[in-house]
Amino acid sequence: MKAELVLKDLKAYINGTITECCLAIKNGKIAKIGKEAQMPRADAQISLKGLLVLPGLIDVHVHLRDEGKAYKEDFYSGTAAAVAGGFTTVLDMPNNAPVTMSAETFKNRMEIAKERVLVNVGFYSEFPKSLCEIDEIIDAGAVAFKLFLSEQVGGLNINDDNALAEAFQKVASKIPIAVHAEDKGIIKSVEEKLKQEGKRDIEAFLEAHSERAEAEAIKRILEITQKTRAQVHFCHISTRQGLSLIVEAKRAGLPVTCEVAPHHLFLSDEDLRRIGTLALTMPPLRDKSHIKALWEGLKNGWIDVIGSDHAPHTLTEKNAESVWDVKVGIPGLETTLPLLLTEVNAGRLSIAEVVRFMGENPAKIFGLKDLGSLKEGFRADLVAIDLKREFIIDSSCFYSKAKFSPFDGKPVKGRAVKTFVGGKLVMDEGEIVAEPGCGKIIKAKVPMEE
Ligand code: DOR
Ligand code: ZN
Ligand code: ZN
Repeated sequence: MKAELVLKDLKAYINGTITECCLAIKNGKIAKIGKEAQMPRADAQISLKGLLVLPGLIDVHVHLRDEGKAYKEDFYSGTAAAVAGGFTTVLDMPNNAPVTMSAETFKNRMEIAKERVLVNVGFYSEFPKSLCEIDEIIDAGAVAFKLFLSEQVGGLNINDDNALAEAFQKVASKIPIAVHAEDKGIIKSVEEKLKQEGKRDIEAFLEAHSERAEAEAIKRILEITQKTRAQVHFCHISTRQGLSLIVEAKRAGLPVTCEVAPHHLFLSDEDLRRIGTLALTMPPLRDKSHIKALWEGLKNGWIDVIGSDHAPHTLTEKNAESVWDVKVGIPGLETTLPLLLTEVNAGRLSIAEVVRFMGENPAKIFGLKDLGSLKEGFRADLVAIDLKREFIIDSSCFYSKAKFSPFDGKPVKGRAVKTFVGGKLVMDEGEIVAEPGCGKIIKAKVPMEE
């Protein structure tokens, strides 16, 4: 066998331990893991000078935008941000213009993305108006369905429990359903009252997006899950009560998983008041008792995934006068790994946990074949990390078009210095060194194209 590339002088996270080894890559896959003497001949060799190599990270919660929202982010800028942040696979959310919610919009989006992406991308679809289109969307390769409960985004009437149950039934045992769990009824009724009173500040936003709005939405979805046994993934859980409802459901054997976003782990409502509307996101930042509960949830394995919820907007959109006009969301692709590696350096998180929450579990939950771990035969998606590299977060250097971050000015320690996608070096020392189109389009249950 002759390999395309041999990576040497590295440590890698393999089967739960960090081992000194070499990796041989052929046809975009890991062909051999072993000592230097066991490596096949290769066209090229790269010495990684002792860097730590992890499986390329998977971010299951990314808004890549493009199409009608390309002014906020496009497939190139979003996947450049991903690869710079150590991610080699992202799952793209469907609240686009047009909304991804039919086989046609779905296929069109995949077609546009194909030539422009630097990392692998899988796509969510919203639920279509007519449920008979669900199978077509699954056949087109949707990785999962997404259900926004905080506002009407897709074609399915979110006020109608029977319609939701019918949709869940149709999807059950096929692909997962990811849910943004905040109750629209609760949010809108409080929002209307506050608007009448002329309230338009951050306190008003926090009052509308209450903890109860999250808890009620989770309860409702758990009841439907109980009836339908659909595989449900709760996005960005932000409250203690939300998490405990999910833990209870897990204990009762329901097929549910959940995710936390880095901003909910590292920032509180106090930070939101200090930073202002740039830090406005949905669900919002909560008080410190919730942060503590979320960290406990991670450490106990109750939370399955860390997803960035990369949600780019323009600065003008973020700085609107009234809180009700501010576009909510925070770009996270370029800050998530450094924030987590800083915790690793401080001894509060392990490398095993980083790989579990952003590699192994995402691959398992979303059925991403041959991704998320370093194994012979798996895709050669790799991230080489320098755990000792210190820097200060500076959003003006982001590849994302969204040049803002609530973490601006924060010192961090640890970053991705080389990212390989399908065996190809795509990011080197912060520079993009490959052409767009080197990422693959992931279609669930359809083998990846060679
Ligand atoms: O903060 C958020 N931003 N939450 C969402 O659910 C949507 C997202 C966006 O698309 O900007
Ligand atoms: Zn959401
Ligand atoms: Zn989101």
